[in-house]
Amino acid sequence: MVGKKNVPTAQPGCYIQAMQTLMCNEIPPPLASGEVHLWWYPSPAVAPRTRRVYIDALLRISLARYVGTTPQSLRFARETRGRPWLIDAAMPLDFNLSDTDGGTIIAVARDLRIGVDIERLDRQPRVMALAQRYFRPEETAGLSELPSDQAQHAFLNAWTAKESSCKATGTGIYGWLDQWGFARDIGGADPQVTYVPEAAAPLTAWQHRRVSPADGYTAVIAVKGVLGDIKLFASDAAHAVAAWAHRRGQSA
Ligand SMILES: CC(C)(COP(=O)(O)OP(=O)(O)OC[C@H]1O[C@@H](n2cnc3c(N)ncnc32)[C@H](O)[C@@H]1OP(=O)(O)O)[C@@H](O)C(=O)NCCC(=O)NCCS
Repeated sequence: MVGKKNVPTAQPGCYIQAMQTLMCNEIPPPLASGEVHLWWYPSPAVAPRTRRVYIDALLRISLARYVGTTPQSLRFARETRGRPWLIDAAMPLDFNLSDTDGGTIIAVARDLRIGVDIERLDRQPRVMALAQRYFRPEETAGLSELPSDQAQHAFLNAWTAKESSCKATGTGIYGWLDQWGFARDIGGADPQVTYVPEAAAPLTAWQHRRVSPADGYTAVIAVKGVLGDIKLFASDAAHAVAAWAHRRGQSA
């Protein structure tokens, strides 16, 4: 387990590298209007068939801290394209989650609608084929000028920026990724948005931040509105939750 560190706040253009580790029953600091709390749960091995139960439990544990209720009593609903939301939150609380090999990130925001996407940096996607299908022509042309290792990084940077944006609006990704445009980025700075879908205008209302909850991962949060501090927490809950999900799966 990582020792406690000062809770960092994000500056534009910076990764959030330090994080505070909270025990399962510790209460996070209050979530002020416009703030974002990110919860990072490094995954233990979770069997695919129990993964949904595991992620649902992580989400409930994360959100119950803010609602002041038990995880099991939280109630959720879905928008038409599947974006989940919390019924009965005492304050305007929004959340979004992203799951990948080795970890789950849950973003919690107050007075903001938020999207998050995380990817492993060692993923080796078929960059040009995917870009031709899902990216804007100028983005694809920009990628084609790069050597393959740089193109891979630039692709993952763009993908996380686009997918987090689609998750903030709730449209889903198919048919929408190319309606979001971002400046080419090889290194992993905060995404610079160049196009937004008409329904998401104006472009200037959007803010994107790149965060790195652990070595080898890159994530983006996308919000429309005035973004305050971003705080990143890691929790020790994942192993206990995984064991619980495994037992539940065996007794089902
Ligand atoms: C959900 C989606 C945006 C991202 O999926 P992904 O990259 O596989 O997965 P991630 O781990 O990053 O995110 C998954 C989580 O995002 C959330 N999510 C699901 N749909 C969402 C949406 N439309 N917008 C925002 N978030 C969504 C959920 O919490 C989901 O977790 P769950 O599957 O346990 O419920 C993608 O699968 C998608 O575009 N789905 C479209 C669904 C759709 O169009 N449905 C139409 C029904 S008529």
